[in-house]
Amino acid sequence: MFRLAQRIKFSGLAPSRSVRSLFTADKYPVKRGNYSELNAEDIKYFESFLNSKDLLTDKKDLDAVNVDWMQKYRGQSKLLLKPRSVSEVSKILKHCHDRKLAVVPQGGNTGLVGGSVPVFDEIVISLANLNKIRKFDDVSGTLTVDAGVILQTADEWLRERGYIFPLDLGAKGSCQIGGNVATNAGGLRLLRYGSLHGTVLGIEAVLPNGDIFNGLSTLRKDNTGLDLKQLFIGSEGSIGIITGVSVLCPPKSNSVNVAWLGLDSYEAVQKTFKLAKNALGEILSSFECVDRASMEVVDAALKKHDMEAQQPLESMHPYQILIETSGSNSEHDEQKLNAFLENSMENELVVDGVVAQDEGQIQALWQWREGISESSGKWGGVYKYDVSLPLPVMWDLVKAVENRLIERNLQSKTDSTKPVYATIGYGHIGDGNLHLNVCVREYTKEVEDVLEPFVFEFIAKHNGSVSAEHGVGFQKVHALQYSKDAGALKLIKEVKNMFDPHGIMNPYKFIE
Ligand code: FAD
Ligand code: MLT
Ligand code: ZN
Repeated sequence: MFRLAQRIKFSGLAPSRSVRSLFTADKYPVKRGNYSELNAEDIKYFESFLNSKDLLTDKKDLDAVNVDWMQKYRGQSKLLLKPRSVSEVSKILKHCHDRKLAVVPQGGNTGLVGGSVPVFDEIVISLANLNKIRKFDDVSGTLTVDAGVILQTADEWLRERGYIFPLDLGAKGSCQIGGNVATNAGGLRLLRYGSLHGTVLGIEAVLPNGDIFNGLSTLRKDNTGLDLKQLFIGSEGSIGIITGVSVLCPPKSNSVNVAWLGLDSYEAVQKTFKLAKNALGEILSSFECVDRASMEVVDAALKKHDMEAQQPLESMHPYQILIETSGSNSEHDEQKLNAFLENSMENELVVDGVVAQDEGQIQALWQWREGISESSGKWGGVYKYDVSLPLPVMWDLVKAVENRLIERNLQSKTDSTKPVYATIGYGHIGDGNLHLNVCVREYTKEVEDVLEPFVFEFIAKHNGSVSAEHGVGFQKVHALQYSKDAGALKLIKEVKNMFDPHGIMNPYKFIE
């Protein structure tokens, strides 16, 4: 049962850049809002307080910020601003508000719903230059950072001090903490450390009119009225620009174990999850599930790039799970993990598995899981659905979508004239969150019409959510009705209008 895991290396974060996507505005029925057009006077004003290298109008610089990570959405911005201080952000927004110029806040541009790039000619405001760690209290574990600090940088900084960042995700090397908070990112360890709605203690943000909201508290408890920072968590750049964040960080675990297990049915996955919660209790930090098609896509993507790696397990089981434990006592944790593994095998739930023997093997196993995102885009593009569903029906959605595509003769691995290469499912089962990816050779209206509204109707029928963690962005702005009633949508719109009466913040997204 226990083999060594081999480390694999992916070429980089982004999918292959061979496909040049159309402009979003040409691809989708969207009309430019009644915003002003950028003129020479505006540029002159920005030049009066920004460093020249922080104001970019070159096509080359703009190409990168106009297109999203999936190469699915492409905007036509003519100006990229990279402020270095909160006061510069404030001056920019005040001017845009007064002039009615639309803007898009951009972090690491790793968002997966088309929220981080312009639709028309919105000005892109990058947070990349606001990248200082402000302070850390090593007794309480509270960290205060600029919004542009890269997640991995913060995590590594904390690890040197015996703590970790409470969020971890595959895009950690590029995404920014401000972007994480703006999308209320979930990630790989939400099961253990909870959502950012719980771990974020304070937020500093610049409002559309240039006012600064100073909610950068580090208190755990504060019952003095409405908790305004919560409005910014998951607001996707729709009500202001987050410039600072304070967050409660957990201590680094002394003992981390990772097991990769093979199962023959989805029924067994659910029973194993129940068993894992009971047997591992507080040390269970991740419970991720991937299906065979996901593993095949990673394998094929590696081969496509002349790389090969040994799969974690000898056979391609239909479902495979990654279980991570994080605790303080390695002997105790190993005992618990071994008892759980024995129990799950005796009950014939788990039929094969490996346990990482060192840090390198832990990383190797995680790479098979995290590599799915990048591998999915290697055939040209990927339609991504990020859904919350009751566990029993989760994989019914994957099967239903695949059947529809096959019935309509749209999917084939070998026939490259078919638009769809593969349909795969994976996700954070421990959080009730499935990722359904339809890996395509090209983005076509025909495939999109087969997928939507079918996927959203399936979710609504089972009282799920059309966005578990990636957010709404441009992609799901018309799908919100499947998860929220008219009253809730009206309230969200009213809050948005109160903060942003001119509608300059990230238009065409989040809420109609
Ligand atoms: P961007 O993509 O730049 O922006 C995202 C949204 O936030 C946009 O609407 C933008 O306008 C807004 N925004 C950005 N910064 C600010 C700010 N300072 N103030 C106000 N608004 C702002 N997501 C998960 O939830 N879980 C995962 O496990 C996960 N894994 C991923 C793995 C990969 C390989 C990739 C590519 C993405 C993954 N994502 C995941 C999605 C994405 O990484 C997260 O949503 C991330 O939090 C976005 O951060 P960012 O800095 O890249 O933001
Ligand atoms: C993940 O869980 O891997 C992320 O949410 C990203 C993705 O779905 O590609
Ligand atoms: Zn995810």
